[in-house]
Formats: sequence, structure tokens, C-alpha cells
Amino acid sequence: MFLKLLEKAELARENSYSPYSKFKVGAALLSKNGEIFTGCNIESSSYSLTCCAERVAFFKAISEGNNGFEAIAIVGGFNDTNEPCMPCGSCRQVMAEFCTPDFKIIIKKNDGFDIYTLFELLPNSFSLKNNE
Ligand code: THU
Repeated sequence: MFLKLLEKAELARENSYSPYSKFKVGAALLSKNGEIFTGCNIESSSYSLTCCAERVAFFKAISEGNNGFEAIAIVGGFNDTNEPCMPCGSCRQVMAEFCTPDFKIIIKKNDGFDIYTLFELLPNSFSLKNNE
């Protein structure tokens, strides 16, 4: 399943709109009911409006009524090169909103992939649950 997710992330990366950074990213998010939602990074001439591939995938899924996720695959790099692309802090916080700490984050490398849990990448995260 992880290989299929990586393939979908690579395909999504082809749609990356990144004329400013030239850093193309694709993501594929697996929901608990087996659906896959993809995303690519979308930049703006007003740089701060840029949205990462991961958040595009999450917002597509959530807006279509899906909640509960197993894993996300992320593929990125400058132009058409591949380099490990770790999710930014904002994307990690969005993951924490919608996923449990055992959510898997699969990062493409030149010679395979690494798997992290959300807990490894964002331990002790802020959540409204802290206030319950
Ligand atoms: N980017 C992503 O889409 N995901 C990441 O995990 C890191 C960065 C995008 C944002 C921007 O379009 C470009 O990569 C360079 O930062």
C-alpha cells in the first residue's frame, strides 16, 4: 500500500504549481476507508498564500466528508529531482488536528522511503484536547 501511495504522490507532483520556488511536491493521503486523496503545492505571487501539497490533500479529503486517516506519502524536490521532503510545521499541526499519533508519514528518498509516525514528528502538540 505504501508503494501505491508513493506512486500517487509522484503523479500528483506533476501538477505542482511552483514557478517561484521550483520545488515540486506531491502528496497522497490514505483515509481509513481506503480512499486516496492527492495534493500538490500551489504557490502564489503573493508568496505567503502558498499552500503545501499535504494540506491540499487534507483539505480535499475533509471537504468531501472524509475523516480518519492512516498514512500520507510525500514526494518532493527541486525541479524534477527527488530529495527527502519533510512536512513543514503548519502541515504537521494540521495532521495533529485530524490524525492520531500513530498516523504514518512516508517520505520518498532516492533509494526508497522512510516511515515516521506523527508522534515522532510532532510530539506534545497543542490541541484543544489539552483543555478538556
Ligand atoms: N512544500 C510543500 O508543499 N510541502 C512540504 O512539506 C514542504 C514545502 C512546498 C511549499 C512551497 O511551494 C515549496 O514547497 C518550497 O517551500
